[in-house]
Amino acid sequence: MSTTAQSRIVILDFGSQYTQVIARRIRECQVYSQILPYHTKAKDIAKLNPRGIILSGGPSSVYGKGAPHPDRAIFELGVPVLGICYGVQLMAHFLGGKVEHSTHREYGPGQLAVKADACPLFDGLGSSIDIWNSHGDKVTKLPRGFRSVGKTDNAPYAAIEQPKKRFYGLQFHPEVHHTPRGKEIIQNFVYGICGCAMDWTMGSFIEQTCEQVRAQVGSDHVILGLSGGVDSSVAAALLHKAIGDQLTCVFVNNGLLRENEVEAVARLFRDNFHIKLKVVNASAQFLKALKGITDPERKRKIIGKEFIKVFDDSVVSLSRGGKSKFKWLAQGTLYPDVIESVAIGGNPAALIKSHHNVGGLPKKMKLKLVEPLRELFKDEVREVGAQLGLPREVTGRQPFPGPGLAVRILGDITPERLRILREADTIVVSEMKASDWYYKVWQSFAVLLPVRSVGVMGDERTYAQTIAVRIVESQDGMTADWVRMPYDVLARISARIINEVKGVNRVCYDISSKPPATIEWE
Ligand code: XMP
Repeated sequence: MSTTAQSRIVILDFGSQYTQVIARRIRECQVYSQILPYHTKAKDIAKLNPRGIILSGGPSSVYGKGAPHPDRAIFELGVPVLGICYGVQLMAHFLGGKVEHSTHREYGPGQLAVKADACPLFDGLGSSIDIWNSHGDKVTKLPRGFRSVGKTDNAPYAAIEQPKKRFYGLQFHPEVHHTPRGKEIIQNFVYGICGCAMDWTMGSFIEQTCEQVRAQVGSDHVILGLSGGVDSSVAAALLHKAIGDQLTCVFVNNGLLRENEVEAVARLFRDNFHIKLKVVNASAQFLKALKGITDPERKRKIIGKEFIKVFDDSVVSLSRGGKSKFKWLAQGTLYPDVIESVAIGGNPAALIKSHHNVGGLPKKMKLKLVEPLRELFKDEVREVGAQLGLPREVTGRQPFPGPGLAVRILGDITPERLRILREADTIVVSEMKASDWYYKVWQSFAVLLPVRSVGVMGDERTYAQTIAVRIVESQDGMTADWVRMPYDVLARISARIINEVKGVNRVCYDISSKPPATIEWE
């Protein structure tokens, strides 16, 4: 967990789709970064003692109606400021320069010509840098004390600086991979200009978080709903390191899990980590409640409701005399869920995510929340997990929806249809692992469709079910594309499913991107 002595860069978010990417790039430099809404008061920023401030891009026009503007006093805090895209336009606008709406939107790759005596941002980068543009407006007059340090064919002020005050501005996006040496520009800013130390490491995070959790919960007992996914697994391992037996995990078998999932979780946490773990087998209860239900939203609601019931009951059963001994509920909440998102114009991503967070918090238990991962991005969680000794099967695990296989069975959920999907899914996963593809993709799984079709097996006509195979690549699940898998891997998956899974005679490969399709079928 961050301390005020630690180097810190504050990023003010003006609604760019890349704000979190900036934060991640800085953390990759082992420097702590924190995203704040653009309107955060300068005095509140000062309290955090940042070594530098970055103004993110954003979809607005600085002169536009309702355009997001920061507290003017941020330019008087005496710390370096780097404006990116909309950020540099704001800087120019606030400090006395001029920004103009250009009719020609510059989008895509470009070349930045850097002046010979260029600014420290471009140290070691030569005189010509490949960059990625995505902007409409541009700075046309510099504020007093600024100078141009880089230009493109279209913009004489593509990179600017005010060296005395240590203000810098970039018209392009150094944070995206399409600016191949962008990371070095960011390093130059955080180390060279802001003087940050490399003190954000997962090792120090673990130490500090353990201390912090101990201080927070004292001698109280903590309960955690383990799902077997990366986040709750890492949260469990971290809390166990911090408070040992004061942690109890509950793993609910809702009957919608994959093959061997219960056994694998129990083996890892109970046998390897010696974590107190209660496995509740509630399969029958869930399947009874889901009987005959085909509407996906109703399935989700039923599963959410049953989960809370089961979790509640198990908390009571773990306590003596009907009174809960638990004061705290642990959750594997991550940083992207807690960033106060500013949804301005073109950033729908911030708004879409909520329906997935099942909100399974049993309210009537009145538990306080402990969220040890709330400062971490997913890749950092994986690193923490690895350092705590979790195996790659857990830290590198693909996302799996809370409602489990229910979202992958279209139509009726019956024990027989669960068997079919489980067997098909096991084949997909094992072939993906065998061909070294599993860890390269975002998700790869099977879906059972509510259609049957004619086939022929030997001399016999069949009338059996269809499995769709979905393999996608994605950065964060918000957008995704189908993976151009080698045909031989697809062929093996298909042949094995049809030969080995009784009741299936057809396999399709889903070639839809998200949007407009979603990743799961439901
Ligand atoms: P969709 O299907 O909306 O999914 O494109 C985006 C990502 O979210 C996962 N997903 C869920 N995760 N609980 C979760 O924890 C859920 O209810 C849920 N539904 C979908 C999905 O697997 C994909 O990675």
